Amino acid sequence: MSIRPVIGVVGLGTMGLGIAQVFAQAGFPVIGTDAHAPARGSARTRLTESLQSRVTAGKLAKDDRDATLSRLTIAQDLAALAPAQLIIEAIVEQLDAKRALFADLEAIVAPDAILATNTSSLPIHAVARGLTRPDRLLALHFFNPPQAMKLVELAPHATTDAEAIAQAKAWTEATGKTVILCPDRPGFIVNRCARPYYGEALALLTEGRSATDIDAAMTAAGYRLGPFALIDLIGADINLAATEGMCAAMANHPRYHPFDGLKAQVASGNLGRKTGHGFTFPAPSASPPPDAKAIALRIEATLINEAHFLLAEGGATSDGIDTAMRLGLNFPRGPFEALALHGKPAILAELARLRVVAPEVLKPRYDPAPLLEAS
Ligand SMILES: NC(=O)c1ccc[n+]([C@@H]2O[C@H](COP(=O)([O-])OP(=O)(O)OC[C@H]3O[C@@H](n4cnc5c(N)ncnc54)[C@H](O)[C@@H]3O)[C@@H](O)[C@H]2O)c1
Repeated sequence: MSIRPVIGVVGLGTMGLGIAQVFAQAGFPVIGTDAHAPARGSARTRLTESLQSRVTAGKLAKDDRDATLSRLTIAQDLAALAPAQLIIEAIVEQLDAKRALFADLEAIVAPDAILATNTSSLPIHAVARGLTRPDRLLALHFFNPPQAMKLVELAPHATTDAEAIAQAKAWTEATGKTVILCPDRPGFIVNRCARPYYGEALALLTEGRSATDIDAAMTAAGYRLGPFALIDLIGADINLAATEGMCAAMANHPRYHPFDGLKAQVASGNLGRKTGHGFTFPAPSASPPPDAKAIALRIEATLINEAHFLLAEGGATSDGIDTAMRLGLNFPRGPFEALALHGKPAILAELARLRVVAPEVLKPRYDPAPLLEAS
């Protein structure tokens, strides 16, 4: 097997074209395709523009731009992906569409080719169900934009072959990415462990604190963006959909409660940067309030708790979770590093305090993870 095998990419939208760029820039021959002719037709121009912006910024040599472009082939149909040894799909986020695509691909590619989904929210075992070789399927979850974000979450399902995991990891690492193994659980690591960052900030908002105070407390604690600035960047509608999706996937546990403050923000149409107005956008945070440290402790306590629930489910390490949170969200420290900073007694005391003062329906939000109590 060559060191730089052919990579197939299906779906040449925001993520797929970025993933194609990542591999082509790292020297892999890439064959990309898309079901829609305009996406195929514009792909090379879009990649050229993306590479040109790096050339203009002095981050890429012209020769490398040309070499990268020469490694990308745009194919009219899936049959052209026959030589690919790793095929990554970034098509529409629909289970049936992804399953149908992988079933088609199985009839085209070699039996030992690795099939990877870039899904953000679908269970990997469900995507693999019905395949002839479900053991070759795993998730390679890139972050947006793939060209810039260093993190890739690799999520196998229960029967993914160990050799396929090791091979997909090695090839993706060869592009310069940091690949973190994570379980086939809703939200993988980052999208799940980030929920309390927004949720606890929204709980504080419900209690009458201002979004600017909360953001200022978190930036004073070292976070590049406060929770509301981050929601404004992502879009309140996208954040609400992610929260509701996670809540449904986790049996409506109050740890994932979609707060009314977020729903009202979406209903108001002030979704953040994309609409010109959000929770705090365009006005940046004020100076930190006198109780900034208490606010940061409260939010970090819930981040730490969630990470312990995930760790107990298996398939991830504490180092992996910390790295994923630093790279995926630009957090200054991961939840286990935050635990080391505050100490376990302070975190357990904060969770206990929050449980006492919380409304009845939200009290289970603050139940400590058994692993946190035991560790
Ligand atoms: N956008 C993000 O921030 C982000 C981040 C991580 C993961 N993802 C996931 O990546 C996937 C793609 O997201 P995106 O934002 O790039 O979407 P997008 O809409 O920008 O691109 C999807 C592309 O897939 C094509 N397509 C749709 N159905 C197809 C099919 N059956 N066969 C071939 N091509 C098909 C479309 O024509 C389109 O060009 C989704 O599963 C999404 O959940 C998105």
